[in-house]
Amino acid sequence: CGIVGYIGQQDTKDILLTGLEKLEYRGYDSAGIATLNDKGVNVSKVKGRIATLREAVDESIKSTQGIGHTRWATHGVPSELNAHPHQSTSGRFTIVHNGVIENYVDVRDEYLENVELKSDTDTEIIVQLIEVLHNDMNDVAAAFRKAVELLTGSYAIALLDAENEDTIYVAKNKSPLLVGLGDDFNMVASDSMAALHVTDQFLELMDKETVIVRRDGVEIQKLDGTKVSREPFTAEIDSSDIEKGTYPHFMLKEIDEQPFVIRKIIQEYQDENDNIKLDADVRAAMKACDRIYIIAAGTSYHAGLLGKQFIEKLANIPVEVHVASEFSYNMPLLSENPLFVFISQSGETADSRSVLVQTKELGHPALTVTNVPGSTLSREADYTLHLHAGPEIAVASTKAYTAQMAVLAILAVDTARAKGIELDFDPMQELGIVANTMEALADQKEKFEDLAREYLQTTRNCFFIGRGTDYYVGLEGSLKLKEISYIQAEGFAGGELKHGTIALIEEGTPVIALATQENVNYSIRGNVQEVEARGANSMIISMKGLDKEGDAFVIPQVHELLTPLVSVLPMQLISYYAALHRDCDVDKPRNLAKSVTVE
Ligand code: G6P
Repeated sequence: CGIVGYIGQQDTKDILLTGLEKLEYRGYDSAGIATLNDKGVNVSKVKGRIATLREAVDESIKSTQGIGHTRWATHGVPSELNAHPHQSTSGRFTIVHNGVIENYVDVRDEYLENVELKSDTDTEIIVQLIEVLHNDMNDVAAAFRKAVELLTGSYAIALLDAENEDTIYVAKNKSPLLVGLGDDFNMVASDSMAALHVTDQFLELMDKETVIVRRDGVEIQKLDGTKVSREPFTAEIDSSDIEKGTYPHFMLKEIDEQPFVIRKIIQEYQDENDNIKLDADVRAAMKACDRIYIIAAGTSYHAGLLGKQFIEKLANIPVEVHVASEFSYNMPLLSENPLFVFISQSGETADSRSVLVQTKELGHPALTVTNVPGSTLSREADYTLHLHAGPEIAVASTKAYTAQMAVLAILAVDTARAKGIELDFDPMQELGIVANTMEALADQKEKFEDLAREYLQTTRNCFFIGRGTDYYVGLEGSLKLKEISYIQAEGFAGGELKHGTIALIEEGTPVIALATQENVNYSIRGNVQEVEARGANSMIISMKGLDKEGDAFVIPQVHELLTPLVSVLPMQLISYYAALHRDCDVDKPRNLAKSVTVE
């Protein structure tokens, strides 16, 4: 979910709605805004997208203060009733909330016995609690702080008091939240992108801080009421980076940006003497550890599987890769000197963050590899490596994935060199070739569009097979396809097919095979024969030098270690066109959110 709040001189509706549009990547099953003027609070909410909310908002109401929310349902189905903002029984207090209140049942039972609840959400509990406490205390700021103190879990909250046209009350714990500063206005938002249309000046907030936001200033306080002073920072994102331009979808734009991102990474990670430019502390931490634990979710997890290959093969350090949500309660036996590497596009994934909190408690060092340097995972880890991919808006990750692999490859080489390992591999030169190859692939979109039409237009399912690194790219290919086209897609290790999965092959089942690795070229082609013999409609995507007649597409050759960076492009483009042909919402697939800030 994402929240936004504005208090200033201008009419607030459009500022809030534009802010929410920029936050839609965080969830988009329902949305709402509340505005306040001398006649009181006006709430508009809808099930559906911000575009629907825009139509529902009453244009005639003028107001210079308001809050808004776009939702990814956790407690309660997506519906108008469960959409935010939520109001207290008297209507005096109105709230938006991102996060999950863990003790909402306890709070409800202890404090809200006599309150009739209107929704199924944990959020309503907060606003009702504030009202109940306020009835006793008669001081809104104090009741707000007290309420926040009683909550456990994650929250980014903005609250309107109908009787105070000069304040928005704000609190944060675990969920991301920033204050945006202006000359005669101030804002709050889950992400700077939601406020970039009006300011580039922001204040960071720490967990368990509250903020009194007024037109002429903001005051940060700890829960005990002590004031906190903090310097603002300038957001480095250009607001044009977050526009689609002439592209029909962000996903296509981001696929096309990949060569530029790789070149940018080469530039950022190289000094004047063509040496790798890396923080000396990161280098020391890599050198000092005896085992690396990569923690990530979704696409970033798939990048981690390939990162393991780079680090083990080049730097000779054992690496384990773990899904963040499993690691928390299923921690393996750790080595003596572990280094935790968190891979996260957003830097906000709650599952990963919870592992970081755990490993910090154990006293282990942590490195975050992220596209958002000021994010929670970046701030809380000891070190950060930046992906330099520019904002990624489409829910299905593309350019962040290839950037993650490029940065991990550079890290692996740097570590190898620091350990005195001789390598016959120049990462920057090889990545330059990768960038050119990506460009060549992105220029052949019609080819992938045709393949998508031929194989995936009407199918119910699709399998991706590969061996070695091709298997991992197949996992990512299947994730891309299922995320945006809703085709049931799975990635399998070629050799494992015969142990069960082959039972799923029927007449016409599409199977996409990757063949970019010399040592398994023969065996993966054997697997293709096996599925074809059972009726599969297969296609082989191979690499120049390993290709055979009849391959659906041959990728120009790149260094064998870096093939995943280019072989994923056909997967991304085929998935994109499959979703397009099936009339799916490419950038905002159903049920998903780009940044999942709940566990
Ligand atoms: C969500 C997104 C995925 C993403 C995953 C991890 O589930 O829908 O596309 O890969 O989160 O996100 P992160 O920001 O940590 O890389």
